[in-house]
Amino acid sequence: MDILVISGSTREGSFNTRLAHLVAAVRPEDAVRVRNDLDVVPFYDGDVEAAGIPRAVEQLRSDVASADVVVFVTPEYNGTVPGILANAVEWLSRPARESVLQDTPVLVLSASPTPYGGTWAAEHLRGVLTRAGAAVRPAGLSVATAHQRLGQVPSDPELLADLGALLADALDVQPPALSA
Ligand SMILES: Cc1cc2nc3c(=O)[nH]c(=O)nc-3n(C[C@H](O)[C@H](O)[C@H](O)COP(=O)(O)O)c2cc1C
Repeated sequence: MDILVISGSTREGSFNTRLAHLVAAVRPEDAVRVRNDLDVVPFYDGDVEAAGIPRAVEQLRSDVASADVVVFVTPEYNGTVPGILANAVEWLSRPARESVLQDTPVLVLSASPTPYGGTWAAEHLRGVLTRAGAAVRPAGLSVATAHQRLGQVPSDPELLADLGALLADALDVQPPALSA
């Protein structure tokens, strides 16, 4: 299985990127690639698109096209998806009716230091991805008080179990047996 995990934060020490890397901890037998470099993707502009797809966009599309499942991990900014992640999805949804996300199994996760875990952003992103043609899995995971739950070493066993079950469901396989 090829799992692509895209974090919507480029911040060093990002809780969302930490959550993204936990996917590799629960799916060690799979090829898990984490991207937290969406700042390489230029802003969507129809003129730029018409002049030729930027290399960074081609790479992102190719990463998505070769994945069996794509996991988006979103921060929440002002109650919604950060621009950097919305921009990436805008590129992935193009050209119209040829979205590389079409029928791609997608999971949405979020993390925030607040007690709500970025649920608004996750919900908005699910809507955007659905409109871009993705097969968004009904279940997701929003990690509240992320500064506590994602800072633990070893990682929070309950969080790992929830993540493992979610991925197993998305991949249609058995969840891994995790030791605490
Ligand atoms: C511009 C801005 C707006 C924010 N708005 C929200 C918000 O609406 N809801 C929320 O839970 N956290 C909000 N936060 C706090 C982020 O959840 C927090 O900075 C988080 O650590 C960002 O994710 P990261 O750690 O993956 O970079 C906001 C942060 C910024 C910079």
